[in-house]
Amino acid sequence: MVQPLKLETSDKLYNEALELIPGAILGIRRPYNFVVGEYPIFFDNAKGGKVYDVDGNEYLDYLCAYGPIIIGHREESIDNAVIEQIQDKGFCFSLTQPIQNQLAKKLKSIIPSCEKCVFVKTGSDATTTAVRIARGYTNRTKILRCGYHGWHDWCVEVKGGIPTKLYEDVFEFEYNNLADLEALMVVHGNEVAGIIITPLGHPLAHEVQMPKPGYLKAVKDLAHKYGAVLIFDEIRTGFRVTLGGAQQEFGVSPDLSVFGKAIANGYPVSAVVGKKEIMDVLEHDVFLSSTFFSNSLAQVAAMATIEMMEREDVLGVIRKKGNEFGKAVEDLIVDTGVPCTFSGGPWVPFITFNHDPEKKYKTLRNTFYTSLIRQKVFLQPYHHGYIAYRHTEEDLTYTLDVIRKSFLEIKQL
Ligand SMILES: Cc1ncc(COP(=O)(O)O)c(C=O)c1O
Repeated sequence: MVQPLKLETSDKLYNEALELIPGAILGIRRPYNFVVGEYPIFFDNAKGGKVYDVDGNEYLDYLCAYGPIIIGHREESIDNAVIEQIQDKGFCFSLTQPIQNQLAKKLKSIIPSCEKCVFVKTGSDATTTAVRIARGYTNRTKILRCGYHGWHDWCVEVKGGIPTKLYEDVFEFEYNNLADLEALMVVHGNEVAGIIITPLGHPLAHEVQMPKPGYLKAVKDLAHKYGAVLIFDEIRTGFRVTLGGAQQEFGVSPDLSVFGKAIANGYPVSAVVGKKEIMDVLEHDVFLSSTFFSNSLAQVAAMATIEMMEREDVLGVIRKKGNEFGKAVEDLIVDTGVPCTFSGGPWVPFITFNHDPEKKYKTLRNTFYTSLIRQKVFLQPYHHGYIAYRHTEEDLTYTLDVIRKSFLEIKQL
């Protein structure tokens, strides 16, 4: 195997951070989410499809900041629009700037289910807002959920610090298992305010699942049969699958949906969009406000991102590259016979190792991702990746070659 990376500066910064910040790094960026000792812990800078760590190592970045970087790092037309806003107008005011309306009109024109929208900052803000709207609109309490929806009290997996009463009305169901949802609806249906679901199934460390034919439509019908609001959590799929989200690709229009991550190529803004009648509970009955929600910088970035995506068919290009990449990885899996699976193509590519009773897959996974990172391919062992518009054909060819070599290496184990 290739030599380990030099990571002295990362390690030094990590040890320093341990003294300053609980756990040194927050949540999913902690070293145990990668291969401990093999991956860098701090990045310094990035450009296009590449990222550089604090020790000067260069990587092809296929994690894309966990989704937001859809075009590429430091994309000039987007960053310049932001810089102009800073220099010419400013962005943090006691009143709202007109860019809000422009962006709202834009979303209305591209997202099928968007009659009205509101802007918040993070994915968790957006999912929590949507859930609150659903509860306000229906005057009901219960929520059925499927997928990761962020770190807020009603949905986070780790329950420390959260009183039971804040999530006892929230029930989880399994993706693509209609019977599971039906069973919950039979018991709770008349008290269910909303069903929130990610249109693709993307559980951590497991294969990405496409919806079974008719599944999303059946979820919608079930929600409506019981008078519940259907919410699509498109924080990952929005602007990745199509500009109108996975809802457009799969032809199922939810009542509400939430978009975040990729909509501004890295700048923090998210949106709750949906039917006018439901969204309008925010006029009087449901409160939403924050010092930074109307901060316009990320809204400017979102407009510039969307304009570029429309101008250059960014998603068509990513889809083509993703399809070719996925097909090539699948061929490599067949050719080498490595016990792993490719899923999520073309939008959220993921190589997972097939579970076996002796748990050998854990060693295979660690060795494989170690080999990738040592050869400067940055992917996460437990989380699917993303392809950015700025990844070149050469980047992908190089990556496939690294994957092939790494598969051959783990065959020796
Ligand atoms: C589907 C989905 N919903 C919600 C969230 C929460 O978003 P954020 O981390 O921006 O709060 C995430 C984050 O990964 C997500 O993937």
